[in-house]
Amino acid sequence: PVPVVAIDGPSASGKGTVAARVAESLGYHYLDSGSLYRLVALATIRGGVTDDAAIAAVAETLPAEFVGGKILLSGADVTDAIRSEECAAMASKVAAIPAVRDALLERQRAYRQAPGLVAEGRDMGSVIFPDASSKFFLTASVEARAQRRYKQLMEKGLPANIDSLSQELSERDARDAARSVAPLKKLPDAVLVETSDMTVDEAVRFVAERIA
Ligand code: CDP
Repeated sequence: PVPVVAIDGPSASGKGTVAARVAESLGYHYLDSGSLYRLVALATIRGGVTDDAAIAAVAETLPAEFVGGKILLSGADVTDAIRSEECAAMASKVAAIPAVRDALLERQRAYRQAPGLVAEGRDMGSVIFPDASSKFFLTASVEARAQRRYKQLMEKGLPANIDSLSQELSERDARDAARSVAPLKKLPDAVLVETSDMTVDEAVRFVAERIA
């Protein structure tokens, strides 16, 4: 089977940056599964959709495209728009709806193509690619994660406040861990990577050295 490196973990743990870098160094494909939930969230907000069945229908027919580093929704560039905290909070709400997760399942598995895939999210190792050849769980303290998210948002020119960020990250992690479907947790067969005191380069090296 085509090898999969699964990288899961809470918000702003560094998994996005690390996964993209590891994929690049291996020449593998890359799946940012969170962007799909963020896209469903944005489409839901823009469409004023509120009930679960209608949100699942949005996920089912999601008109999203990934072209040249840009993310498009119905042809419009939403690369930065989906990174807002409003979208992140809504993403974690739509992600708790089982029918939404089902609707996105095959779309995610389709990324598994030769020579390999690095997939990051919350349930890459548990639900989407349970047979992944390597599994990692990246985490960091709430303080470190809030600092990182603050920097990212500032760089994108999006509004950010460190106290409300750490509050929002904690709430979102709690919701992601408490949900009945695909709760966020470290699997017994995943390698724990505590990145609070690691630079990006160190985290990338740590993961790269442990890929099976
Ligand atoms: O960027 P950040 O790590 O904060 O979040 P993300 O990876 O973009 O994911 C946004 C939200 O989507 C998360 O809070 C989860 O609720 C949900 N998600 C999920 O349920 N399963 C995944 N595989 C990826 C994201």
